[in-house]
Amino acid sequence: MHDVPHIQQNQSARKNPCCVPSCCADAGLEEKVSKEIGYSQEDLEAIPEGANMGLCCGNPVTYASLKEGETVLDLGSGAGLDCFLAANKVGRAGRVIGIDMTPDMIKKAEELRNREQYENVEFKLAEIECLPLADNSVDVVISNCVINLSPDKKEVFREALRVLKKVIMENLKASTDNSREADSSAASVKVSAIKP
Ligand SMILES: C[S@@+](CC[C@H](N)C(=O)[O-])C[C@H]1O[C@@H](n2cnc3c(N)ncnc32)[C@H](O)[C@@H]1O
Repeated sequence: MHDVPHIQQNQSARKNPCCVPSCCADAGLEEKVSKEIGYSQEDLEAIPEGANMGLCCGNPVTYASLKEGETVLDLGSGAGLDCFLAANKVGRAGRVIGIDMTPDMIKKAEELRNREQYENVEFKLAEIECLPLADNSVDVVISNCVINLSPDKKEVFREALRVLKKVIMENLKASTDNSREADSSAASVKVSAIKP
């Protein structure tokens, strides 16, 4: 499963897959960093020990309004921090897929999943610019401190839109007097073009 030649090439091209100094954080710093970013004590206690490597820069699950039974995709899942949080929300009827291009991250996340028996979570070795998922197969896409690392962000968003079942966008456009006004019509035109 981990023997994917193009990923291995990219691995050596991208020596450091992380974006923040906390990637190499001292032991114990992970919790401090995560709490400052927006994770509660309850969040951190609800996930397998080791899943939080202090690599996050936000708490996407807080904004995702996840419901029981939904399918969630985490782009750049690392050791599975947000996948496990999302899995607790979508329950046994739901499914969470974590994508990461680093074999060591996938290995670690899989070990934690198996240790804590998260049967509704799976991890896939892949690049977020080329998702190994079918069109319209995911309810919610989350990502935490990863898209900024991608050399092809357009492709990441194109792929996310491809796999999403439903896209709802509200948009704002600047008007001439510098106030901001809602631009739902433009958004809905774009959405219907993407998801006919
Ligand atoms: C800063 S860490 C964040 C990990 C996780 N989201 C978290 O908050 O703990 C970035 C992760 O994204 C992965 N990554 C970076 N670029 C990627 C890409 N183009 N495709 C897939 N994974 C990528 C790295 O291997 C690493 O695990």
